Amino acid sequence: MQGTEEAVLQKEYIEKLRALYKGKPHAYFIETLGCQMNAKDSEKFAGILQEIGFTEAASERDADFILYNTCTVRENANQRIYGRLGQLKNLKAGKPGLRIALCGCMMQEPDEVDTVRRKYPFVDIVFGTHNIFKLAELMYRRETGDGMVIDVWEGTDEIVEDLPAVRKYPFKSGVNIMYGCNNFCSYCIVPYVRGRERSRLPEDILSEIRMLSEDGVKEVMLLGQNVNSYGKTLEVPVSFSELLRRVAEVPGIERVRFMTSHPKDLSDELIRTIAETPRVCHHFHLPLQSGSTRILERMNRRYTREKYLEITEKLREAVPDISLTTDIIVGFPGETEEDFLDTLDMVERVRFDSAFTFIYSKRTGTPAASMPDQVPEDVVKDRFDRLLARVQAIGQEMSGRDVGKVLPVLPEEINRQDSSMLTGRLDNNTVVHFPGDPKLIGSIVPVLLTESRGFYYIGRQA
Ligand code: SAH
Ligand code: SF4
Ligand code: F3S
Repeated sequence: MQGTEEAVLQKEYIEKLRALYKGKPHAYFIETLGCQMNAKDSEKFAGILQEIGFTEAASERDADFILYNTCTVRENANQRIYGRLGQLKNLKAGKPGLRIALCGCMMQEPDEVDTVRRKYPFVDIVFGTHNIFKLAELMYRRETGDGMVIDVWEGTDEIVEDLPAVRKYPFKSGVNIMYGCNNFCSYCIVPYVRGRERSRLPEDILSEIRMLSEDGVKEVMLLGQNVNSYGKTLEVPVSFSELLRRVAEVPGIERVRFMTSHPKDLSDELIRTIAETPRVCHHFHLPLQSGSTRILERMNRRYTREKYLEITEKLREAVPDISLTTDIIVGFPGETEEDFLDTLDMVERVRFDSAFTFIYSKRTGTPAASMPDQVPEDVVKDRFDRLLARVQAIGQEMSGRDVGKVLPVLPEEINRQDSSMLTGRLDNNTVVHFPGDPKLIGSIVPVLLTESRGFYYIGRQA
């Protein structure tokens, strides 16, 4: 197991904090922005805090420890954090014992940490993405010293296993298989804030999944920025496909998902594995980013539009009921109307079940930020609206294709609008609402899909 010594050290800090907080009320509130990686990290923070003896607060007002786990992939994520911090200032003024901590991707940017130090001096702890396992140690340092504790690492080779974590859902869980990214897409800040690619050992991943299964988990989502290159840097290399097969064999695990795949590393072996391994879900999230080969080149994506089409055709041939979803960026520097029409054309050809569409956001330090011919805002907005309209119309047509069928659904929660209904997901990730007993939550049930309403189905138990 990796990082055992560090885990032992952190457990000592957890004990010290338990003693320190004994007899005092203490509740935590965690706000998580960004992707599944951050969501998973937040489960680890909650695990550490609960081990110290904290309970979860219903809101920031009720909390004694507030943690913002930040994202910086687009500028608006940063603005949201500063907006929220502004509000916390008053809260802290009325409650001096309140502790405020910031962590996550935005804190890996020295300029942002500087801003926090200058403009938000009431923040207690700042740390980054490479030392998340140190939360207890940093909290202890804050309590035994004075002033803001800042501990941000530039990078790390370290992976620390065996720290506590709590899950949001009892029956499903994300599982990190790798950290960081080596791709350096020219618009993207992730490689700078998450560091170089590091894979976890397959035996550590499998033992975590066996433990999760024993604890009632039926669905796992394997997490990495580019899962297709999993295992390449291990001493004994293992392919992602091989890992997927081994995960799918863990008794009790009924659904295996993964996120995210990069088209350049997608192997025929992986396509075969999805087709041949019943527990691997028929959903593939494959970010396209642009449909223009010229723009893809400038984005440093290392595939062409033809290559992308070829992959999706192979996927559809091997797994006919697969659902394909994607990410698309509009307004990358130098994008012409013709390039944009290429993107629209790809959307027409591939027919995605759904797509996350983003307006290009300039990230300081990335190669694209200093490219000439940034696209004017009004042009980008117009393209964005046109793309969204097509993506939504096609998504609606695509996701209605299973009406009349009986398919397995994993109910996840009581419907938020109508408490007599449950909300769950098909194997291909589409949402289904159906009347049902909350006792069914977490177990797979057959549901007749009676009606399609755009992006989701209405059904009844079959
Ligand atoms: N590793 C994943 C995605 C990580 S970020 C992958 O390669 O697909 C999630 C999405 O945010 C990306 O797919 C991209 O579409 C979008 N994104 C990343 N940087 C962006 C930027 N500077 N502006 C707008 N969207 C961006
Ligand atoms: Fe960013 Fe590209 Fe890495 Fe995805 S693969 S995280 S888009 S650099
Ligand atoms: Fe955001 Fe960091 Fe994820 S920048 S998208 S939280 S890896």
